[in-house]
Amino acid sequence: MRPILKLAIAAAMLACFVAAQSVLNVRAQDAPPKKLDPAAWGESRAGQPIPEYVSGDECLFCHRNTTGVTWQINAHGLTIRHRNDAPELVALAKSHTTLAAVESGIEYFLGSRRHIRFLRKNGYGKFDIASAHAVVDAEKKAERWMGVENLSWNREKFADRCAGCHTTGVDSKDKTFGAFGLECYTCHGIVDLEHTKDTTFVLLAKKRKDEARVVTSLCAQCHLRGGKSRLSGLPYPNNFVPGDNLFKDFEVDFAAADDPQLNAGDRHVWRNVRDVVVEGKESVTCLNCHQIHADPSRASATRRHRIVLKGPICFDCHYEDQPMKNLKPYTATSGLCEY
Ligand code: HEC
Ligand code: HEC
Ligand code: HEC
Ligand code: HEC
Ligand code: HEC
Ligand code: HEC
Repeated sequence: MRPILKLAIAAAMLACFVAAQSVLNVRAQDAPPKKLDPAAWGESRAGQPIPEYVSGDECLFCHRNTTGVTWQINAHGLTIRHRNDAPELVALAKSHTTLAAVESGIEYFLGSRRHIRFLRKNGYGKFDIASAHAVVDAEKKAERWMGVENLSWNREKFADRCAGCHTTGVDSKDKTFGAFGLECYTCHGIVDLEHTKDTTFVLLAKKRKDEARVVTSLCAQCHLRGGKSRLSGLPYPNNFVPGDNLFKDFEVDFAAADDPQLNAGDRHVWRNVRDVVVEGKESVTCLNCHQIHADPSRASATRRHRIVLKGPICFDCHYEDQPMKNLKPYTATSGLCEY
């Protein structure tokens, strides 16, 4: 074949491909969004006792050389730490004169990235939370302090308002937790040890291809800040077990997905959850964009997101009419988390 003809055929093929793509795009846009009842499928164990689950240490005994390596620096694992494991936060507390005076009474720290709170034990599975709040830089040095003058400890707040999303295995009746910080159970659920022979026994394994609504439910249990449990009235889910349907008990208002006042960090989460569980768009979940066990200090944790097909979610953070390297600035804030 003459090279010029080859080129013409290639060009024709490309034209067909582009045409087919734009037809597909038009179809995707034209299809009216579904209006599904998010509570219609699956199970809920709200109100039941917390099931037995394998502890994080047991999982890490076998998975220490792979998952264990990045788990040490994963925000989920670090969200609450004992002072012996957080020398930089002990130094932070000592750096403020008022806090330094009570520093030895601070046993745990809440927050792993920008915002740090201070905790001490209050009986089994409960914490007191101090009024103090530090905004920190990447070195964990204070940029700003709040609530440190007239420092006080609150005995109820952590159990009433925080425990469900920052600790593991919370019993909504007595509001106690089984372990501080977030263990493997919070995402992988009840793990059958038979999975060592057949990985399809464990939620989120590569071989399983979990349904979009299952994945979405399990991330949304903590990332939809502003919902509440119908049964307990608490601002966190009631005995949600990964694999189950969050929306049978957890009541949320998806209008947040369209709220221009909401920061993009939260808004894109509401949008993605609504896309999946209300509009039935199952092709994109959190995991098309986020890699939980990647090194969070590297772009690799969100590298996947760059190749996702463009849609409205992109423009929570990017400009519709500008190159993708330009980002809309936003500050993550949350009334629930008090920052
Ligand atoms: C419904 C679940 C939920 C509840 C309840 C909740 N949080 Fe959070 N919290 C989150 C999630 C999810 C994040 C991470 C959000 C992000 O980074 O976009 C977070 C982040 C934080 C951070 C920021 C960590 C950092 O290093 O930047 C602090 C501090 C915090 N929460 C404190 C609290 C306190 C105090 C309470 C109770 C008064 C509370 N949270 C209740 C889900 C929750
Ligand atoms: C915040 C949710 C979350 C927590 C907590 C979590 N995982 Fe995962 N894990 C995932 C997701 C999501 C995947 C699927 C991989 C993907 O798509 O990136 C995964 C995958 C894995 C894999 C498969 C290998 C891989 O990297 O893909 C192993 C092994 C694993 N997790 C072990 C653990 C262990 C052990 C813990 C506790 C120390 C843990 N996970 C805690 C969400 C979590
Ligand atoms: C007795 C050792 C052992 C324990 C304990 C254990 N695992 Fe595993 N796990 C394995 C082996 C072996 C495999 C299969 C080989 C592989 O993928 O690493 C596996 C596979 C997995 C996978 C799928 C990996 C993939 O490639 O898709 C996940 C997810 C996982 N484990 C999570 C967990 C979690 C969460 C816990 C704790 C609740 C746990 N494991 C406890 C040994 C163990
Ligand atoms: C049990 C509650 C809980 C579950 C389940 C959960 N998260 Fe989180 N997530 C949090 C909290 C709390 C933080 C902030 C921790 C901190 O910094 O103190 C967080 C932080 C994050 C961050 C920011 C971390 C960083 O390094 O910048 C991402 C991204 C994220 N979660 C995605 C997910 C995805 C995807 C899933 C589902 C696979 C998921 N989370 C499941 C509670 C949860
Ligand atoms: C289309 C891709 C995409 C989807 C889908 C997506 N995210 Fe994100 N998300 C991102 C990107 C990109 C960032 C920005 C990371 C950064 O700032 O470095 C981000 C940021 C975040 C943050 C940090 C916000 C902050 O600034 O504190 C959290 C938490 C988060 N996502 C959770 C989720 C959860 C949970 C889901 C699923 C319900 C989800 N995301 C779905 C792309 C996505
Ligand atoms: C929550 C905010 C957020 C959302 C939603 C989001 N992005 Fe991004 N995007 C970022 C951030 C932050 C970066 C830079 C760091 C990185 O790559 O993770 C980025 C970088 C990119 C880049 C690389 C740009 C360059 O030239 O450097 C591309 C391409 C991209 N995003 C595409 C997308 C697409 C496509 C979507 C929708 C499917 C999307 N993004 C959704 C925050 C977001």
